[in-house]
Amino acid sequence: MSLKRSILDLRKRKDEVRLGGGDKAIEKQVAQGKMTARQRILAIVDEGSFHEYDMFVEHVGTDFNMSNKVLAGDGVVIGTGMIYGSPICIYAQDFTVEGGSLGLMHARKITKIMDHALKMRVPLIGINDSGGARIQEGVNSLAGYGEIFFRNTLSSGVIPQISVILGPCAGGAVYSPALTDFVFVVENISKMFITGPAVIKSVLGEDISMEALGGARVHAETTGNAHFFALSEKECFEQIKTLITYIPWNNTVRAKAFPPKEPKTKLKIENIVPADARMPYDIRDIIKSITDGSEFFEIMELFAANIVIGFGRMNGETVGFVANQPLVLAGVLDCDSSDKAARFIRYCNAFNIPIITLEDMPGYLPGVDQEHAGVIRHGAKILYSYSEATVPKITVIIRKAYGGGYIAMNSRHLRADFVFAWPTAEIAVMGPEGAANIVFRKEIAEAADPEAMRQQKIQEYKDKFANPYVAASKGYIDEVIEPQETRKILLHALQISMHKDVPAPAKKHGLPPF
Ligand code: HXC
Repeated sequence: MSLKRSILDLRKRKDEVRLGGGDKAIEKQVAQGKMTARQRILAIVDEGSFHEYDMFVEHVGTDFNMSNKVLAGDGVVIGTGMIYGSPICIYAQDFTVEGGSLGLMHARKITKIMDHALKMRVPLIGINDSGGARIQEGVNSLAGYGEIFFRNTLSSGVIPQISVILGPCAGGAVYSPALTDFVFVVENISKMFITGPAVIKSVLGEDISMEALGGARVHAETTGNAHFFALSEKECFEQIKTLITYIPWNNTVRAKAFPPKEPKTKLKIENIVPADARMPYDIRDIIKSITDGSEFFEIMELFAANIVIGFGRMNGETVGFVANQPLVLAGVLDCDSSDKAARFIRYCNAFNIPIITLEDMPGYLPGVDQEHAGVIRHGAKILYSYSEATVPKITVIIRKAYGGGYIAMNSRHLRADFVFAWPTAEIAVMGPEGAANIVFRKEIAEAADPEAMRQQKIQEYKDKFANPYVAASKGYIDEVIEPQETRKILLHALQISMHKDVPAPAKKHGLPPF
């Protein structure tokens, strides 16, 4: 065959593979508002940067008439590309080919690109759109999932792993995402469950739709399995690209620095917190009054909104923010918010991202529900994560820092590098009302006017403890600062902490309270 003819033959072969499951299957995919696997990849990576591998891999199924079937690329597209000039490895399951189901060779393609990502120390993005284990390939499909889960775990904390759920993902198709760092979902398109509605109906007799069982909102708001929620695939891809700008390629480097910018919010930081300590405000306004360009990239916005986590930049460098949200449940810590914050703290620590903690919270949420849901175990995760973290850790106490919350929110005692407090800070074992009722119960009960005595004792407690100066007198906080100085002081603290190096005791690994 002449070179010219062999090139034409190659092109024809590639075009056939690019057709995936064929026009009919593509039409069905498009009718559901979904892009095809290759369209998705091309929408994420920089134009002209995608290189696809293993296009001609064929499946090896023989049972149930599989030997007669041709499955283009065995239902998955793998390759490498760039996002804003940063290298990434990527795969996208192709639902038009046998429902994106995972057989042995499909799994081998995925594990090949996973190995590549780990070896090259670059982020891995997995687009999941799959009916799960390919039923006709039996144990080979299960083996394939096992190989993927093992690699997810091996890569954890070494390279960023991003999962995008863009279709009905069942069984094994949801466990790989659960082992990765960030999960993205899109309204009406993403579904995640271990067993679908049909199995639930037959085993438990319960009727539930796919959307109500494991739709995008369910995972973004209720289960906490998803970290980013979007209304369209396009919006989702923009979120992924933005995330990539905030995180480093791997655990040995820092995130790419950007040109520094001054905050641009019109809000004056000193005017955000209401004078009445019982009134709420949006902690994100404080974050935006501190960060470069007032930009804040929030993570898990819809889940456990009583704590806010996300990335911003300070003097061009990525910083992770963990902040109590007084707007929701007064910013208390509970099971879900503890899980949310703890995992983010560990992410920042694994990937060399300094953490700024903004504190305003009345402690852990009391109640039978919380106790029985395991608030001891969940709450301990924050203590563990902050204690374990060796990246620069800076705290600003804005208002309330009561009880266990004071300790948990990156206190000096968990080895914060710098602890600052606004003059409005109240550092105490509990709120003045609760404290007065317990400590002065007898005096209040025996007083001629119990209510007047109660108010007097509350005031006494407030005067004594509801301020930052007792903690400052013991060196537990380093400096009481004026609100408008916050950014300047944080920038300095970050600069000083740039080359922080603390040795950790030798151990195989710790045992965080899962
Ligand atoms: C083989 C599959 C498949 C699978 C879908 N297909 N899932 N083929 N193995 N797991 C095929 C269908 O037969 C169909 O082929 C084509 O893909 C499109 O599927 P449809 O059913 O037409 O699509 P839709 O109506 O959108 O429904 C999507 C779906 C449904 C909800 C995902 O296909 C489904 O319930 N699939 C099975 C899900 C499942 O139980 N998977 C196993 C999980 S157990 P044709 O030829 O008709 O176009 C598992 C074990 C690992 O994953 C556990 C590890 C911990």
